[in-house]
Amino acid sequence: MVVHLFAGEGVLENLHVADGQVTFAIADFPALETVGGIVAGRPAGFPTPLLITRLAAGNGPDAVGAINAICTHLGCTVLPGAGSLLCPCHGSIFDLAGGFLRGPAGTGLFRYTAGFDGTTVTISTALR
Ligand code: FES
Repeated sequence: MVVHLFAGEGVLENLHVADGQVTFAIADFPALETVGGIVAGRPAGFPTPLLITRLAAGNGPDAVGAINAICTHLGCTVLPGAGSLLCPCHGSIFDLAGGFLRGPAGTGLFRYTAGFDGTTVTISTALR
């Protein structure tokens, strides 16, 4: 399941940066309860648009990805695809962890530090 919130300003309503991080209950974004789910948008005050992805079942730092949606090619906003992340400008493709799959971008997307404790997702404004 993909929740696409880039329409308009793409701001994720009710999410905002406090003390250098964004925290939300996963129940507020049910797409993230299933591996492969994606939520796209930008929490208020966050430095870039985000692609928040469910990477694995269970808890921990690798269960959820927080991907900087700015393409490493020429800076377009990368969008959710079916099982991947797609740049609409020149066709680069990335996996759900932001890893490089196909160019013209030559590298993967940057990723923020994220964690999941089984209830709450925490995303730092610091890159991992
Ligand atoms: S800006 Fe993303 S592929 Fe060119």
